[in-house]
Amino acid sequence: MTDSKLKLVGLGKSYGRIPAVEDVSLSLRSGEFVSLLGPSGCGKTTTLRMLAGFMKPTSGRIEVNGVIISSPTSVVPPERRGMSMIFQSYAIWPNMTVGQNVAFGLKLRKISSADVTERVNRILDTVQLRHLKDRYPAELSGGQQQRVALARAIVIEPEVLLLDEPLSNLDANLREEMRSEIRRLHDAFKITTVYVTHDQSEAMVTSDRIVVMNRGRIEQVDDPVSLYRRPKTRFVAGFIGRTNLLDGKRDGNRIVFPGFDVPAGSAPIGDAPGASFSVRPQTILLHAAPPADRGRTWWVAGTIEERAYLGEYWEYVIRPAGSDLRVRVSTPPNQMHAVAEDVWMEIDPGRIAPIPGPEGDAG
Ligand SMILES: Nc1ncnc2c1ncn2[C@@H]1O[C@H](COP(=O)(O)OP(=O)(O)O)[C@@H](O)[C@H]1O
Ligand SMILES: [Mg+2]
Repeated sequence: MTDSKLKLVGLGKSYGRIPAVEDVSLSLRSGEFVSLLGPSGCGKTTTLRMLAGFMKPTSGRIEVNGVIISSPTSVVPPERRGMSMIFQSYAIWPNMTVGQNVAFGLKLRKISSADVTERVNRILDTVQLRHLKDRYPAELSGGQQQRVALARAIVIEPEVLLLDEPLSNLDANLREEMRSEIRRLHDAFKITTVYVTHDQSEAMVTSDRIVVMNRGRIEQVDDPVSLYRRPKTRFVAGFIGRTNLLDGKRDGNRIVFPGFDVPAGSAPIGDAPGASFSVRPQTILLHAAPPADRGRTWWVAGTIEERAYLGEYWEYVIRPAGSDLRVRVSTPPNQMHAVAEDVWMEIDPGRIAPIPGPEGDAG
């Protein structure tokens, strides 16, 4: 027995001879919210279209509640999969009011009209559109239109909700607001959801787990915190948040980078060969003077090469003394250093994350 609601097993899709998705296996619990995250062209939409039943896989299968709905030999058509899909372009009907748009899917299902009204009102309350029930889409803002699309998809209580970059047509502030709203809606309705995005913040805010994809394959599947703290590949480390990816090796109880070294100390290196290490810019402390205590061998001297003010923080690029590396360090907005200034970086070994995985380019 398995409690997985939705299962992808060795799923693959090639366009002609070019593989777009390869060997994707994934299992979602009922009510789970999972994102497919990766750069443009990594195979997210192709995967989602196979989930929706618009496209037949070239290998592998998709199961819902243990029943195969897609394989290279047969595909249950989209309208019989119990799924709702939301696209980047809202695709709501321009000639129907908000209320009619949302009610449409319910009417097809032969639900009593009192019931339809009640369910439509409930979801419109949830997305805060009740007062706009009689408006037409052309009379709504982009964010409001996207809310209608969400309401329409959720009101039919699909087995699975699929969203493909639903916020990318919205401006930045609205995107932030809507990503929280999508999570709130999920908490209210608990529909098993697959959310496609190239935006790591969107994935982190909305998701229980994130599937990081690169070139058609899964790099790592984890909850947001684990993904950020313990990336398994260089690609994931570089794609999820900003980081310094440093090549180094363990030598006795030191980690040696080109031109400088720090104590391995409490670094969770274990038996990893430790060819690559991820050091987040905000985990490095910056000092204007050398340590008073010479035993602090995790302080690394360097020179500021560049700086940028981002409002919420400063970002400095520092060249360690005797090294060609460029290390990014971010500090609070009130900690100012000048270009060409000599500084000391305090690199906490406990926050150096070794990357166990092989190859893969940083995103
Ligand atoms: N209809 C198609 N014919 C040929 N190649 C395609 C087609 N659709 C997508 N591709 C290719 O498949 C890969 C994955 O595309 P897609 O799933 O759209 O990626 P994403 O949604 O992550 O940006 C890309 O290299 C893309 O160029
Ligand atoms: Mg896409």
